[in-house]
Amino acid sequence: MAEAAGNGRAGTKGAQLRSYLLGLIEGELKPHEKLPTERDLAETFGVTRLTVRRALDQLGYEGRVYRTQGAGTFVSEPRIAKSVELTSFTQDMRARGLIPGSLDTVVEEIPAGAEIGARLALSPRDLVAHISRVRTADGEPMCIENTYVPSKLAPGLAARGITGSLYQMLTETYHLKIEKAEQSIHATVLDPPLAKLLGVPEFSPAFKVLRVAYDAKNQRIEYAESVYRADRYSYDFVIFRTSRDNTN
Ligand code: GLP
Repeated sequence: MAEAAGNGRAGTKGAQLRSYLLGLIEGELKPHEKLPTERDLAETFGVTRLTVRRALDQLGYEGRVYRTQGAGTFVSEPRIAKSVELTSFTQDMRARGLIPGSLDTVVEEIPAGAEIGARLALSPRDLVAHISRVRTADGEPMCIENTYVPSKLAPGLAARGITGSLYQMLTETYHLKIEKAEQSIHATVLDPPLAKLLGVPEFSPAFKVLRVAYDAKNQRIEYAESVYRADRYSYDFVIFRTSRDNTN
């Protein structure tokens, strides 16, 4: 090899090291299994430990590995990639072979108030069912969700309570079918109480997703605020060029 490793260009030792590590992460090793030590990697690839550390740091930024002080580098759980499709949490988890669940579910009927009222085009005095849940995948907390549904569209929802999918219940019990949603995604960090609920370090990064969902008659069916762990989620989109803008 002509060049000192480290810059990751194809054919360099750095690139070989990276592709070896990706092979381990995607193949042989399971989540939370340990990667070879920096020293072993440096020896095997004939590079400095600094080069190895850089490669591991890069994989850390990409969320593929994590480090534990004094113990080494371990494979991260794979991220759950969200697309632009309008899906429920239950559908997302099932599509990945994970069992959806909820913890600490609280359902109450409350006046919408100014902010939620504005989101749902209700008067502040109108009642909404407020559903608060920690959503889990195979029992692991993934997301904290606060959802508001107008009581006039789903009477008795708060009294009935909820154990499974809200979207399924809205369709089957109230014949409300969500057809489209306006959604915005913000970067945030988890303050200590939220971090505790999700079982991650305080001030870990997260995505805050706001959704107003509508049925085919353009009725606003829900307003939801969901906070997802950024170490377990990504948002993946297919994007298209517009025809008038494809010259460069
Ligand atoms: C996603 C959406 C929420 C929606 C929820 C319903 O998490 N961001 O707006 O309320 O799905 O999920 P489920 O049908 O599993 O209760």
